[in-house]
Amino acid sequence: QECGSLSIIVLGASGDLAKKKTFPALFNLYRQGFLPPSEVHIFGYARSKMTDDDLRDRIRGHLIPRNVTAEISEDVLNFLHLIKYVSGSYDTEDGFHLLDDEISKYECQKNSQEHSKRLFYLALPPSVYPSVCRMIKLCCMNKSDLGWTRIVVEKPFGRDLESAEQLSAQIGELFDESQIYRIDHYLGKELVQNLLVMRFANRLFLPLWNRDNIANVQIVFREDFGTQGRGGYFDQYGIIRDIIQNHLLQVLCLVAMEKPVSIKPEHIRDEKVKVLQAVNLIKDEEVVLGQYEGYKDDPTVPEDSNTPTFATMVLRIHNERWEGVPFILKAGKALNSRKAEIRVQFKDVPGDIFKCNKQGRNEFVIRLQPSEALYMKLTVKQPGLEMSTIQSELDLSYGQRYQGVVIPEAYERLILDTIKGDQQHFVRRDELKAAWEIFTPLLHRIDKGEFKPISYKPGTRGPAEADELLAKAGYVQTHGYIWIPPTL
Ligand code: BG6
Repeated sequence: QECGSLSIIVLGASGDLAKKKTFPALFNLYRQGFLPPSEVHIFGYARSKMTDDDLRDRIRGHLIPRNVTAEISEDVLNFLHLIKYVSGSYDTEDGFHLLDDEISKYECQKNSQEHSKRLFYLALPPSVYPSVCRMIKLCCMNKSDLGWTRIVVEKPFGRDLESAEQLSAQIGELFDESQIYRIDHYLGKELVQNLLVMRFANRLFLPLWNRDNIANVQIVFREDFGTQGRGGYFDQYGIIRDIIQNHLLQVLCLVAMEKPVSIKPEHIRDEKVKVLQAVNLIKDEEVVLGQYEGYKDDPTVPEDSNTPTFATMVLRIHNERWEGVPFILKAGKALNSRKAEIRVQFKDVPGDIFKCNKQGRNEFVIRLQPSEALYMKLTVKQPGLEMSTIQSELDLSYGQRYQGVVIPEAYERLILDTIKGDQQHFVRRDELKAAWEIFTPLLHRIDKGEFKPISYKPGTRGPAEADELLAKAGYVQTHGYIWIPPTL
């Protein structure tokens, strides 16, 4: 039996990310028994002066468990009781010495100093990452070789290739790559994690997954709300840095990469890097940018903002498997629906004897959210006396197939991985660099105002030019057919 003591330290404890994502994820892990109170202590650290109870009060309202039961309030109380608060600045040693004392106090009590395991979750803006990492290194490292210290960071990791590399170098001087966990929460989503299994554990897909059979791939993120009070933050980044360069590109890697040598994290991450390195620079004529009307009404957004809230673009992978297959990445805020999906469209049937009146091509759709599903659009015989065809689907809808199974939240799963020391679902430094290399030239042109977003009405599909780009890239829309998630 391990006699260690795990300290989880949430820096930026009073901020939005901590309240909305980090603490609720920790709470769910706690409820499932992954954070036994005899082993684990949780610390919040931030600049504001407040008491333990003040912090607990701030968090309490966000701890909404998935399966509400009677003993919930007791769980909430017990969980909150695990949390202590330390206040201090992010760039001076005093606060971090206090933090270290506090952590050590609980480690000592358990007499498990030799196993001190310290997980620092930086729910902070990246501008303070270097100083916070320096302070941790100076004041708060685990006290013996038997334990560990790990750092969890969130995007945005820089604004472009240069700033990202600079940030990586600053953190890299202080911590080994094996201690750094760069979260991209899309890698914690159930169906994103399923991509590897689905692609490489099924004979069915192996011979089809290439340029001979696939016409195009779309990776789509849509939200039906705008920037909602985050305008100031969002305006510095825009939709490409907020969604495409990280979340959608990570999904692209898993869809397009070659089969890894094994399922070891480093083997998987090696393949992701390789496919990123094979992506060509994006051509201006294969990009459509949009900005929704009303975006600039937010007082924190400059009146002359050139920041895109919508983008569709074509990525081209220069390798044997994918030459000539457009990967269309599309993301937008304030659109007419909320969903994220991958749509793999197959080529037409050669010498098709059913061509007339056919509704559309085969498509394999991986619906990441909401209503997780895998479905394959097929042409079948219309049931009845006539010999006509109709589009239908083979459908694996999770809600129906896995009734009663609770799909964990992305953050919950990823935080558990950081405790276990599994880096598979985290972004490696060379991966991050390759990702920025793809987008930096385009981002610089947008930043300089050389590339302007087209205005679109909130609650629509975005600029019509984006659909035109899709058609030009070879996507064939299916008419008169729509997949309806099954209701239970
Ligand atoms: C975040 C972006 O990374 O992802 C947000 O900063 C976006 O702008 C969010 O709303 C979407 O995440 P999810 O899990 O709701 O698809």
